[in-house]
Amino acid sequence: MTGTGAPPFAVISGAQVKQALRGRERQITELVEETYRLHGAGDSVNPPSYFLRFPDRPSSRIIALPASVGGKLRVDGLKWISSFPGNVAAGLPRASAVLILNDRDTGYPFACLESSIVSATRTAASAAVAAEWLSRGRPRPARVGFFGAGLIARYIHTFLAGTGWSFDEIGVHDLSAASSAGFRGYLEQSGAGGRITGYERPEDLIRSSDLVVFATIAGEPHVSDLSWFRHNPVVLHVSLRDLAPEILLASVNLVDDVEHCLKASTSPHLAEQLTGSRDFLAGTLDDVMAGRVTVPTGRPVVFSPFGLGVLDLAVGKYVYDEVARSGELCVINGFFHEVRRYG
Ligand SMILES: NC(=O)c1ccc[n+]([C@@H]2O[C@H](COP(=O)([O-])OP(=O)(O)OC[C@H]3O[C@@H](n4cnc5c(N)ncnc54)[C@H](O)[C@@H]3O)[C@@H](O)[C@H]2O)c1
Repeated sequence: MTGTGAPPFAVISGAQVKQALRGRERQITELVEETYRLHGAGDSVNPPSYFLRFPDRPSSRIIALPASVGGKLRVDGLKWISSFPGNVAAGLPRASAVLILNDRDTGYPFACLESSIVSATRTAASAAVAAEWLSRGRPRPARVGFFGAGLIARYIHTFLAGTGWSFDEIGVHDLSAASSAGFRGYLEQSGAGGRITGYERPEDLIRSSDLVVFATIAGEPHVSDLSWFRHNPVVLHVSLRDLAPEILLASVNLVDDVEHCLKASTSPHLAEQLTGSRDFLAGTLDDVMAGRVTVPTGRPVVFSPFGLGVLDLAVGKYVYDEVARSGELCVINGFFHEVRRYG
């Protein structure tokens, strides 16, 4: 509390976020798993994301993800995340974001965090959780293929490596030679091990991978040949719009949240529109973790995570607690000012 009795408000920079999360891949995947379980048990509020789009800038958007999560986490808040793909050519990341954390008891915002790192981290952690659970009962994937090699692909690789995965082969396919080269440079520097192969043709990447990670910015499906998936890979369909409905209809489909994922022209949404039903969905990742759904092995398995605000809150609160513990919180004195009702 400040002298006026106003609740404190802190600002947490990207550098502090990065520091708080560095080397914590195992803790964060456990936290994300716990948050999926809380969400599955109904101990969360996670309304639909709100998409702000612009008629004059159709490839750009800003999304609001309000949420509330219970359990030990007990925090409310909002992620506000922009996607401006044109940034990349100008040397800036596509996505930028802030996360506001609100106090459960007073509703007061108590922190604003740089959140592109939180967002990439929770996305990568959820991919690592899915890779772990969805490959159980199959030979553990030793060949991973990255379809789209930007920032999210880098974070997913870091999380896979940081949670015990190692690969004999790492395949890379990207429309941009610069992205492929940049990702390869990251892999070499990370000491990932395994042979790195760049693939010109998407078909060759998919056929050569037991674990396929889609992290493109495709707006509509561009992969439709089912024969490429004949070896039944585990597919982390993080970018959500790459696969034609026909691929999904021949696969075992898991999502993070059914209502969220069947929206906004994702591939599962297109599959629902095509068939008029949701029967093609096996369930959620939480269903698999809780043993309510068993993943059959004789088909490809596709995880399409819409990305839940509750995960941003969980990771954001973790960061806040770490920074507070280190004594480095940057509190903005007097941020809330008009706190006496009659002055
Ligand atoms: N589901 C989630 O929770 C979640 C969370 C965060 C990001 N994402 C998604 O992840 C994707 C990647 O994000 P990023 O920050 O890494 O973007 P980025 O711009 O850094 O990288 C995307 C890469 O994909 C490549 N690409 C685009 N279309 C392609 C195609 N058809 N084939 C091959 N490569 C292609 C681009 O050249 C680029 O290198 C975005 O679609 C984003 O919306 C999903």
